[in-house]
Amino acid sequence: MINLDRNDLVDWLEHVKIYANNGKVVDYIPALANQQPETNAVAFYPLGKENDVIHAGQADYYFTIQSISKVIALALALIQQGEQAVFSRVDKEPTSDPFYSVAKLEVEKPAKPFNPMINAGALAVTNMIRGRNSTDMVEEILTLIRLMANDESITFDHEVAQSEYETAFLNRALCYFMKQHGVITGSIEELLDVYTKQCAIQMNVKQLARIGAVFANDGKDPDTNEEIIPDQVARICKTFMVTCGMYNESGTFAINVGIPAKSGVSGAIMGVIKESGGIAVFGPALNDKGNSVVGIRFLEKLAEEKHWSIF
Ligand code: DON
Repeated sequence: MINLDRNDLVDWLEHVKIYANNGKVVDYIPALANQQPETNAVAFYPLGKENDVIHAGQADYYFTIQSISKVIALALALIQQGEQAVFSRVDKEPTSDPFYSVAKLEVEKPAKPFNPMINAGALAVTNMIRGRNSTDMVEEILTLIRLMANDESITFDHEVAQSEYETAFLNRALCYFMKQHGVITGSIEELLDVYTKQCAIQMNVKQLARIGAVFANDGKDPDTNEEIIPDQVARICKTFMVTCGMYNESGTFAINVGIPAKSGVSGAIMGVIKESGGIAVFGPALNDKGNSVVGIRFLEKLAEEKHWSIF
């Protein structure tokens, strides 16, 4: 029984939208710099056929999912390569560093990024996705995302992908370091092509909430209960969302909200409410950790009103 209705979403979004004034739209990816800070949207996709998705704000607005794609790429790599292979190249520990940090790469011997949610770890994960070339690899990611969102039309935004590809100097540096240490293999340009396209996958909050609902349903389709990802893979992904999903704000977020969640620098956050459904919030003004200010405030309100913290 899900006692959440559209009016709750409308009220809470109205209550928190003012916080957009406290944030700043990302500008290190030039094509994202013109996002409007006052745009906002939220959707909740409940489990069970009998319930419909509910939403508030600009729920048809399309944004790129950026780092939220890291969770799906991780699920895919785990399905294709297995736990042992994946965790031989990336570790399971949170860092207190920003998502783009190079610092910790020198800490572990042999070199290994700390977790799959920071950029270094995500690049190592994407490097493990099957495919003869970058087009195949992007197609593999899109296939899984389309299944989870139940929408065949989902694709990536060429302009955003290209804009990041042309300016991803730090991500290139992470790749060169990791290649030197044998963490990644093959062409770095091809890897960046896949990675920037996966980050530029576009959708609206309703579709993103459905992806959250698959995780909330332990990897099964929220309407048909058919398995999309194995429950053990879903469990690993959700655990990373708790420990690393909000980057170096994950501890504070766990205390203040307490639901597995993943953010992206476009301003989107996907949350997983076990046995209830998936939630997605969008608001492009970010705090200094790279997380949506409106998104965080909204989820704080939701967790407080509904007692949805898992802790
Ligand atoms: O690699 C990057 O920097 C971006 N494509 C994604 C970073 C991101 O979304 C971090 N999220 N808060």
